[in-house]
Amino acid sequence: MTIVTQKWRRGTPITSGWDFTVKHRAIAMAYTYLAFGSDYRRWYADLAAVRSQIDGAAVLDVPCGGGAVFAHLSGTAPRRYVGADVSPAMLALAAKEAQKSSIQNLELVERDVLTMPYDAEFDLCLSYMGLHCMPNPAGAVSAMARALRPGGVLRGSTVLVGTGWRNDRFVSLWQRRGIFADVYPENDLRQWLEAADLDEITVDCSGAIAYFSATKRGRD
Ligand SMILES: C[S@@+](CC[C@H](N)C(=O)[O-])C[C@H]1O[C@@H](n2cnc3c(N)ncnc32)[C@H](O)[C@@H]1O
Repeated sequence: MTIVTQKWRRGTPITSGWDFTVKHRAIAMAYTYLAFGSDYRRWYADLAAVRSQIDGAAVLDVPCGGGAVFAHLSGTAPRRYVGADVSPAMLALAAKEAQKSSIQNLELVERDVLTMPYDAEFDLCLSYMGLHCMPNPAGAVSAMARALRPGGVLRGSTVLVGTGWRNDRFVSLWQRRGIFADVYPENDLRQWLEAADLDEITVDCSGAIAYFSATKRGRD
């Protein structure tokens, strides 16, 4: 297991600091603007779109972290909602968040993304701000795609490099602190999505944060 994964698993002030940041809109907006030149309203817009698609769907949220998404999906009725993460520390935060929100049929699972047992069973996979924390993001995308049924949709976000020296400096800072794994440019993200048998690929960058979506090939 890499040092980055160990840090996330164990939990540190920085990892719980992320969870606090992302759950407070003004702080999240300020942090992502200063660190990544990004407008975090893009994420809230993404979640509004997810909210309208979720009722009756089987949803995989990986990595779910501390359940930052839950408050935005509160009151929805997915057929199944699995929040998976490698970190017991983050899942403990997610469990508290789950109690506050009311998403139906929610279960939390401790798993490395690469060892998920899911095969063609989810309509939607959400993966926000996770790939840059994972040592094998291409493998992670492939595991997420495998979990989707044909026609299922992957939506997520990740930090990239190559979007400006200021943004790249923050990436290096978090890598030195052991919080980010290797971070890649936009072309690599597109290649992971294509290699995972996904099409209808979109990648939309807001500063160093890319929002992506893609559809699993084939139809049920
Ligand atoms: C920056 S947080 C993002 C969490 C959440 N999606 C959010 O937007 O707040 C990154 C998450 O990735 C998880 N993670 C890191 N490596 C992982 C792996 N190999 N498998 C599953 N989760 C992993 C961490 O535990 C952490 O919860």
